[in-house]
Amino acid sequence: MKKIADLLFFSVAGIILFLALEFFEIPHRRKDVVEPTDPSTLPWKAPDTLNWAQLDNNELLRYGYTLISKTGHYYGPKGIIQQDFNGLNCQNCHLDGGTRPFGNNYSTVYATYPKMRARSGQMESVLKRVNDCFERSLNGHPLDTNSKEMKAIVAYINWLGKDVKKSEKPVGSGIEEIPFIDRAANPQLGMIVYKEKCQSCHQSNGEGVVGDDGTYIFPPLWGGNSYNQGAGLFRLSRFAGYVKNNMPQGSNHDFQQLSLEEAWDIAAFVNSQDRPYKDFSADWPDISKKPIDHPFGPYADPFSEMQHKYGPFKPIKEFYSKNKIVSK
Ligand code: HEC
Ligand code: HEC
Repeated sequence: MKKIADLLFFSVAGIILFLALEFFEIPHRRKDVVEPTDPSTLPWKAPDTLNWAQLDNNELLRYGYTLISKTGHYYGPKGIIQQDFNGLNCQNCHLDGGTRPFGNNYSTVYATYPKMRARSGQMESVLKRVNDCFERSLNGHPLDTNSKEMKAIVAYINWLGKDVKKSEKPVGSGIEEIPFIDRAANPQLGMIVYKEKCQSCHQSNGEGVVGDDGTYIFPPLWGGNSYNQGAGLFRLSRFAGYVKNNMPQGSNHDFQQLSLEEAWDIAAFVNSQDRPYKDFSADWPDISKKPIDHPFGPYADPFSEMQHKYGPFKPIKEFYSKNKIVSK
């Protein structure tokens, strides 16, 4: 009899203990507990456009987004405002309206401008920076900084970055700094990869495909309607960092389709083709601040223009760190 009572006691006690543990969900006992992710390791996420309806500048923000995503319709060869531009949309390079992590997004613009920029050697406002892309990436001319269009673009960009603090560099902001390779980037190898992975959309002559409305379905990568030699993408590190994370179309940071070598070699191939030239010789007034992949001399180092264009970049980087000159 005692045995049965004991058995009963221990089973009941066991069940109670089990229920108690379940009830309090003692974390280390649970197999399905997911460790909370440190939010600072997650890629930047743009604020939600659903909130726009409540904002006073709702209309301006919408117009800003439209201008960034369909720029060629307003400023392009068949633009309804001005025609002296190449027809690219800002969003061809600042993907998803400048919101995509690792897609050259605008996350840190609001927090960091106005700022000192070594390219101009001046304190630059966001207006100046936007106009830089109109002049270089869109191979056009600067917009009137008082125009409704400029105000709309800036309002939209500022709204996107409103939650980013000055001291912060969110994961996936701008273009990724990808590692250098040990050799020079090779245009011949790049051409082979281009034919295999890029040509179907950007075409064998690099000139892309224009739609019925005169704007690009597939934007050009070289030729008369591409970005000019003063543009950010003309630097190999910018081009390689952009395509590694985003091209061929359908790729993203978590689904990359190019090896590191392929990204650098394609950058070398595309940026060795013909493209518009504009005189930006006043750029980088302090030559020691030129980025190491800026392909135009003079330099504050003994390396050739050729090496500054195609690499190998590691020896140049080492030269600057040894001589304690901070270059970008
Ligand atoms: C051909 C590609 C291309 C196009 C088109 C383009 N940009 Fe850019 N943009 C760049 C690159 C490259 C950078 C420099 C990114 C870097 O250095 O990491 C840049 C930088 C910027 C920045 C500064 C970002 C920062 O974090 O400092 C702003 C603002 C900007 N672009 C606005 C625009 C606007 C507005 C348009 C359309 C009128 C536009 N861009 C069109 C390639 C482009
Ligand atoms: C399936 C079609 C497709 C393929 C393949 C493709 N792209 Fe693109 N590419 C696009 C589209 C579309 C855009 C514009 C993106 C947007 O507006 O959202 C673009 C934009 C670009 C841009 C920035 C805009 C410009 O004109 O300068 C570059 C640079 C680029 N692609 C390079 C490449 C490279 C290099 C490859 C091969 C590794 C490649 N693309 C393969 C469709 C493609």
